Amino acid sequence: MSSNVNVSRRMFLGAGAAATVGLATTGVGPTKAENAGAGEGKANTFLAPTYKSYFGHDVTSDAVHAGENSNCSSYPIYQGTTNHGAYTRGSNPTINSVEVKIKRLESAEFGIATACGMAAISQTLLTVLKPGSRMVLHRNVYGGTEMLVDGPLNELGIKCERINMTDLGELRTALKRKTAVVYFEVHSNPALNVVDVKEASALAHEAGAMVIVDNTWLTPYLIQPLALGADIVLHSATKYMMGHGNGLGGIVCGSKRLMKRIESNRGVFGGIMAPMNAFLLHQGLKTLPMRMERHCANAMLVATFLQSHPKVARVHYPGLAGDPGHRVARKQVRGFGGMLGFEMKKSPGVARHVKLCRPWTSLGDVQTLISHYGRRADWGIPDKYVRMSIGIEDPADIIADLKQALDKS
Ligand SMILES: Cc1ncc(COP(=O)(O)O)c(C=O)c1O
Repeated sequence: MSSNVNVSRRMFLGAGAAATVGLATTGVGPTKAENAGAGEGKANTFLAPTYKSYFGHDVTSDAVHAGENSNCSSYPIYQGTTNHGAYTRGSNPTINSVEVKIKRLESAEFGIATACGMAAISQTLLTVLKPGSRMVLHRNVYGGTEMLVDGPLNELGIKCERINMTDLGELRTALKRKTAVVYFEVHSNPALNVVDVKEASALAHEAGAMVIVDNTWLTPYLIQPLALGADIVLHSATKYMMGHGNGLGGIVCGSKRLMKRIESNRGVFGGIMAPMNAFLLHQGLKTLPMRMERHCANAMLVATFLQSHPKVARVHYPGLAGDPGHRVARKQVRGFGGMLGFEMKKSPGVARHVKLCRPWTSLGDVQTLISHYGRRADWGIPDKYVRMSIGIEDPADIIADLKQALDKS
């Protein structure tokens, strides 16, 4: 390998080794001493300072046990349209059980599951916004959200203003006008802009606005936006939470009062999670902590490799010390996540040549995924941009595949 990144396979022989490398590389997260007082006297390097376990356990234990039936190793799939007298569009035992798990992981009062991430976003926004309301959003968010904003929300007379929320001064100015909702992703899709959750939430609240954060890219294992001031946190559970590219799902968490309103509208809009997908989400969440540690460790190595490659103009990864989002990310996340992007100097066609990685558009799966973007300056997407979701494979294999693909592109 000609890259100056020395990726030793021995570094990654076990999950513990990968975790150690992840933290050593990112340099974030509380120290053992800090953690000693954080949760039941445990010294766990990955314990989130904001995590509040209902059971007094570490988040890794709650990911395995919360919401589960103590008589079964896997919560059963209640496939019936009616179970114990309840119609599934309103309530279903398998869906309800996974809702308990995710509310525990987000340390939320209440959580609801939806058909997919877009169902979570649209059902939430259509509940809290009304014709004439104004929403301020970061200029780079998931394309489906952009289309919701420009299409149905616009047609309903909901005014949306895009600003650069990495600049809190811009947010302060935007909030001078009456605002109902401030909306952003912690690490934005696809440009990897980093928004300061605590500062943005404080400014929004001062102006009387509600804060909605899409936490799909980091998951509650790496950051808990509610603990930092957000009012609602939502997810595409299709991604890291499900984790294996085998089911669609969405999650919304927050106060019981707000969630009850969204839950009631979910019953009318109909964007509910399929019981089979609730079952798969339960399975995925059990290993979320370990997978996230590995995604973070691998992404840092791939980002470092890409930074040294002559065909790459710029790498977007908040874990890199030179990244514009590094300072804010460092103070609010426990790991920088598995998503990165890079701008090619000439052709962005690298995805056509990968062999191990998959040239697919999704993200958060165990396999490494790579996709190209066309320039959309109005959506904050740079030219010749390539987005990668780094999987949990051996990092040396991912880098070798990327290297041969870059050589051909
Ligand atoms: C940040 C983010 N939010 C929401 C979604 C939509 O999720 P879904 O495909 O589950 O509807 C995606 C999809 O990629 C996403 O990346």
